[in-house]
Amino acid sequence: MEIKTFGVIGAGQMGNGIAQVAATAGYQVIMNDIKTDFVEKGFNAIEKNLSRSVEKEKISREEKNVILERIKTSINLKDLAEADLIVEAATENEPVKFEIFRTLDSLCPPESILATNTSSIPIGRIGAKTKRPDKVIGMHFMNPVPVMKLVEVIRGLETSDETFKLTWDLAVKLGKTPAQAEDYPGFIANRILLPMINEAIYCLYHGVGKKEDIDTVMKLGMNHPMGPLALADLIGLDTCLAIMETLYDGFKDSKYRPCPLLRKYVEAGRLGRKTGKGFYDY
Ligand code: CAA
Repeated sequence: MEIKTFGVIGAGQMGNGIAQVAATAGYQVIMNDIKTDFVEKGFNAIEKNLSRSVEKEKISREEKNVILERIKTSINLKDLAEADLIVEAATENEPVKFEIFRTLDSLCPPESILATNTSSIPIGRIGAKTKRPDKVIGMHFMNPVPVMKLVEVIRGLETSDETFKLTWDLAVKLGKTPAQAEDYPGFIANRILLPMINEAIYCLYHGVGKKEDIDTVMKLGMNHPMGPLALADLIGLDTCLAIMETLYDGFKDSKYRPCPLLRKYVEAGRLGRKTGKGFYDY
């Protein structure tokens, strides 16, 4: 099977990044979200990103236009029936994802692959909502998608070898480096990253250091490109909390308990960069 048309569900920061990368690699892309406003915002973000690349003379103005022409926007899941592979990058919420997968399963031809960019929901649990769990797989991109080289490819228990190989090869064609992870809570990336971020939030909560100092320690002491609190703001504090809850529920081990300060911020609507306020102001 050859992938020609690439579907993306969700036009937010992950979804529009995935759409940009796929269109840049030459695929026809259908980018879907629930509201016209959301897809327009996502499309504009891609346009802005590509314009920056034109200014930096990384691509020509013509190349930018060709890439943008490959992206169709949609607010109807039925449009995704044309796609050979769909990456779902909707909000990190189980009922929402389950509903999307049930609907896609009923709309898409039986050979279409249904991938999810979930950061921590079990692939097997999502696959079980469809009649094609062999064609359901995790394709976990990192934020910001156009910059980060990694794609974590996660096999559910029922994911077939063919689906795995196709997804792995696709990640390479998108210019990314894939890494294989098994279907356990948080997979590899977030099993390691989120407890580190959560511990940084505990340091703030316990008054071990000010936010700037906590971030400086990890930036300059460990050569991380950004500090863990700034990174939490980039990921979204709601997503960070959702991942910690998944780790905690999945392992029932107290080392994964989310810091109360993280929960407090999320409850107050301080979600990081996307709301203009998190640990820092934007
Ligand atoms: N979209 C596209 N390009 C972007 C971008 C974005 N949102 N943000 C930055 N860039 C590009 C810039 O244009 C710049 O490109 P050039 O090199 O061509 O000029 C390059 O990235 C570097 O950007 P800056 O100079 O502005 O800033 P920087 O050097 O500080 O890098 C960063 C910014 C790439 C975000 C860097 O700080 C970084 O790598 N941070 C860590 C990111 C990270 O850990 N991501 C993983 C998060 S976890 C996750 O995503 C998984 C999950 O499930 C939670």
